[in-house]
Amino acid sequence: MVTRADIGVIGGSGFYSLLDDAEEVEVTTPYGPPSDPITIGRIGSRTVAFVPRHGRDHRFPPHRIPYRANLWALRSLGVRQVLAPSAVGSLRAEYGPGTLVIPDQLVDRTTSRSHTYYDEGGAIHVPFADPYCPTGRSLAYATASAEGWDVADGGTLVVIEGPRFSSRAESRWFAGNGWTIVGMTGYPEAALARELALCYTTLALVTDHDAGVDVGEGVTQEEVFAFFAANSERMRTLVASVAAALPTDRPCHCPHTLDGIKLPFPLP
Ligand code: ADE
Repeated sequence: MVTRADIGVIGGSGFYSLLDDAEEVEVTTPYGPPSDPITIGRIGSRTVAFVPRHGRDHRFPPHRIPYRANLWALRSLGVRQVLAPSAVGSLRAEYGPGTLVIPDQLVDRTTSRSHTYYDEGGAIHVPFADPYCPTGRSLAYATASAEGWDVADGGTLVVIEGPRFSSRAESRWFAGNGWTIVGMTGYPEAALARELALCYTTLALVTDHDAGVDVGEGVTQEEVFAFFAANSERMRTLVASVAAALPTDRPCHCPHTLDGIKLPFPLP
């Protein structure tokens, strides 16, 4: 039985078929169980662990996802590089459904989520000026371009608390601030990954124009789910190609996040 992986994928349940020779492992963490047992398998020569973000049966709404447990569980399996495919709304008329955005910035508008591992045992402040792994981002952009995606290199993801979608005024405000896409799960995932010194790369598939964009009439859950499902095979192919191409060394700043910091507990 395999109990180790180098790369983690946190995504929708459409990603179960991503892995060859897949096996399930139950992982416990100090933060409770992850969204579901973790599936470990192969993509080419890499070992990959997959967590279905919302649970296998989509039972966790965005504000109830066990984000801390998911990332802790991945790290405890040896994962140091995480790919995070997700569905987002577009705040720009020119980025329609089907555009893939590789965000380089994030704005947190969530309100109720456990967003840190370091809430006792002393003050730990990790850098977050650039929330995403530069290596993962450039590889995701190059791979998506080579696979024929309409892909945007960079953009700001605003993460709302949900589970409702944004009002037209909220959406106009987000767009007016120059933010690019809106989603519900990108935070605290990115921050927790950074707190564990993991490389973290979001691959954001635009499923709709959000309400405040001129061409957007307001979005429904049905529209989002149907669009993501229709594109899930293409997304799987992309995530598999990026995973296979990730460098085995980590030439980025991510592994050095906690250098010189005295942690209140050892990381797994
Ligand atoms: N996920 C997909 N589309 C979205 C939208 N318009 N707002 C928030 N999250 C989304």
